[in-house]
Amino acid sequence: MMTDPFPSSDFDPWAQTYDQDVQQSHFPFDGYDGALNTVIELAKPHTGMSVLDLGTGTGNLAVRFVKGNCDLWCTDFSEGMLEKAREKLPTAHFVLFDLRQDWPAELNRRFDRIVSAYVFHHFELDAKVELCKKLVNDHLTENGKLIIADISFLDAKTMSNYAESIGDLWEEEFYWLADESVRAMESAGMKVTYQRVSACAGVYVVSR
Ligand SMILES: C[S@@+](CC[C@H](N)C(=O)[O-])C[C@H]1O[C@@H](n2cnc3c(N)ncnc32)[C@H](O)[C@@H]1O
Repeated sequence: MMTDPFPSSDFDPWAQTYDQDVQQSHFPFDGYDGALNTVIELAKPHTGMSVLDLGTGTGNLAVRFVKGNCDLWCTDFSEGMLEKAREKLPTAHFVLFDLRQDWPAELNRRFDRIVSAYVFHHFELDAKVELCKKLVNDHLTENGKLIIADISFLDAKTMSNYAESIGDLWEEEFYWLADESVRAMESAGMKVTYQRVSACAGVYVVSR
């Protein structure tokens, strides 16, 4: 049997220190607050807006939607992370599920906004595109938007220069490269815009 490279058990213990770790101003969290705030600026939350947050973690993005009185749905595959998020978000709905598995029945509906921060870099480009396509086609309302903040670079050259500049801090994962990602999503029939937020963070807005 193949071992899972990203089991939920890797994330459960991280829930204890996660909120301190994201305050580091170096890789991978250089630009973290700016990226989450950019999602809010682009989402324009308002009362009654339905919002699905994928990979909620300890709830740092979701909590920014609370002020907007949104109908908030939070998901993650780590029970440890969701436990922390529940403390911050007493009125939100929570669903424990793995984005690589079948879509859960309770989320089988459409949302005005689907958002996600610092999650999709666990998936290769093909899987990113496939998931975005499913979200946009099956789970967004007509004028809905999918807004993704993550570790991202303009292109491969920018990423390799950055990796070299930070030395031992660098870790290999499937970080977004804006040029190839935008091209691949447009080829799959989606509309996409990209906004750079810091040397290693950016935000994608995807729609039909
Ligand atoms: C780096 S944290 C980001 C948390 C939060 N969105 C934020 O911006 O602070 C990544 C989160 O994605 C979740 N995650 C990773 N892979 C997942 C998967 N396949 N399905 C569901 N959640 C996943 C982890 O449990 C973790 O909570």
